Amino acid sequence: MDLHDTCWIKKYKEADIDAFYLKKGGVIAETLSDEVKLLLKARPAAAKDAKLVFKLSATAAKEAFTITHKNGIIRVTSGDEAGLLYGFYELLRRLHDKCDLNTRQAPANAIRMLDHWDNLDGTIERGYAGPSIFFEDGAFKTANDRVYDYARLLASVGINAVAINNVNVRRKEARLITRPLLDGVKEVAETFGRFGIKLFISINFASPIILGGLTTADPRSKAVIKWWKDTANDIFNEIPGFGGFVIKADSEGEPGPFAYGRDHADGANCIAGALLPHNALLIWRCFVYNCNQDWRDRKTDRARAAYDTFAPLDGKFLDNVALQVKNGPVDFQVREPASQLFGAIPNTNVILEFQVTQEYTGQQQHICYLAPMWKEILDFNTYSPSGKTKAAPILEIIGAKERNGVTGVSNIGSDYNWTGHKLAQANLYAFGRLCWAPNLTSEEILSQWIRQTFSLDVADEEILFNIMINSREVYEKYTAPLGVGWMVKPGHHYGPDVDGYEYDHWGTYHFADRNGIGVDRTGKTGTGFAITYFEPNASMYDNIGTCPDNLLLFFHHVPYAHILKSGKTVIQHIYDTHFEGYEDVLKMVSEWKKLAGKINDREYLNVLSRLEEQENCAKQWRDQINTYFYRKSGIPDENGRMIYP
Ligand code: GCU
Repeated sequence: MDLHDTCWIKKYKEADIDAFYLKKGGVIAETLSDEVKLLLKARPAAAKDAKLVFKLSATAAKEAFTITHKNGIIRVTSGDEAGLLYGFYELLRRLHDKCDLNTRQAPANAIRMLDHWDNLDGTIERGYAGPSIFFEDGAFKTANDRVYDYARLLASVGINAVAINNVNVRRKEARLITRPLLDGVKEVAETFGRFGIKLFISINFASPIILGGLTTADPRSKAVIKWWKDTANDIFNEIPGFGGFVIKADSEGEPGPFAYGRDHADGANCIAGALLPHNALLIWRCFVYNCNQDWRDRKTDRARAAYDTFAPLDGKFLDNVALQVKNGPVDFQVREPASQLFGAIPNTNVILEFQVTQEYTGQQQHICYLAPMWKEILDFNTYSPSGKTKAAPILEIIGAKERNGVTGVSNIGSDYNWTGHKLAQANLYAFGRLCWAPNLTSEEILSQWIRQTFSLDVADEEILFNIMINSREVYEKYTAPLGVGWMVKPGHHYGPDVDGYEYDHWGTYHFADRNGIGVDRTGKTGTGFAITYFEPNASMYDNIGTCPDNLLLFFHHVPYAHILKSGKTVIQHIYDTHFEGYEDVLKMVSEWKKLAGKINDREYLNVLSRLEEQENCAKQWRDQINTYFYRKSGIPDENGRMIYP
């Protein structure tokens, strides 16, 4: 089976892609493939018999491209081969969309990356689309076409970096940076390299002990510094274009510099120093918090942790370190404010991390198109005084530097359709498109993806569009209310369990009692998290009168009768959204059924079965949440709907 039959670039499978491999220097291709000819024929006007020319230009920027269509010649120009490749895919999109071919584009972000949480045994942490495409049984897969297909898929949306293994690096995976596993790394790096993608490996901070036989991983130890240098030299001897390392240190049980009384700048600089001569990057994650919190302690706040650890270290990192910051201050919930760390580390490289895999957003069983959520984060105005303009939105901050960018935890696996069901592909597509051009709207991206993925008439395209465009809002309605988060079953994080984490050690609480609910993160009476933002955000969140409704319970503990800006009480809002959310899912199911016979049966039935699961799960959420809060508050639904006592 050609795996591109199952995704948005299927329409171009005949395109003479081999001619577009990144070749060093010169023209990449001058003849039209049959597929491009076909697309051209479908156009009414002069493009029909055009000649296609790819040219490298010494004066053009790298990765950027220009497409011109003049006098029967379609010319793609770029400063490097990767730019020509991106130009080629953009040309295909434009031919397919029948729009003007002339365009000039440059990526908004230098680093456009995906992180895989794949383990050597082939399992994927938080993976919902089958086993790893890279590994099985403790080794790299052999005769593996998927990697090539994946690289092409990613290049078509402009991704230029991939980390292939889990950030939780066990002893076996720690060995990926040494032989014999390094041979497999090299092979994957070469395949990716043909598509302009740099390969990264997640490493274990304690590698000098695990692999090097040293007694310490202290970042100030001379032996440790030397070990990292030697190891990096070995890697770059084998793989000259290697991208670098990703590291999760002092987080959820992973080793880190704290064990040696060192801070995270010490830890990062020791390893980054070894990468520096090779011009490679160390990506250091900021997901550092106390995961052994006592639920009785109401002052420690996980939402503050990354900021408290990293903001004081601004400017202390080597040039080739980039701090990777999750989009929100806690952990990929369906609704969180943007992390306050963006804008607070202006003298440090920063990479924004999204979760494309749907750990907390329905695990690829529920339809949840995430672009609207990502847009909110990208557009969030940090008001950082260090921003170029007064506005300083996150997209401007991450787009500002050569070693800044965006990464996402990948949602793909070995499933024939890559993402468990076809509609979840829209998230991967949207992620890539937003890394390239964060100003695109969620609507534009979704329409484009639908047109490129299916062959539907306009009315049916609209049905599908309407199912997907508000699906994140729908998911939010029937799950944890008003930004409070969690309420999921512990461990696997699927389905409702209101108190699942309430008395646990992870620092994720809702504090519901008979009077009210929410986390007091205000400056005066709470954890002070709200006032770690720049003004006017700090006051906006800190003040209950100006805090947006959808984040009210993230920032404030309020009585159930508290009146929202919508005019409803908190308890009535909870009831209404949970009834509505379930009704919305029923509508999604009935709308999807209208597409029977219009989408191939395999895909259609696959999505249908997931929607049926979503319906069951949304009902569980509705009833458990409504009953829980009815029991706690004793306040009945104004509309007298069925709430189980
Ligand atoms: C979440 C997720 C973990 C993951 C962690 C991380 O907590 O549940 O599986 O390891 O994020 O981002 O490191």
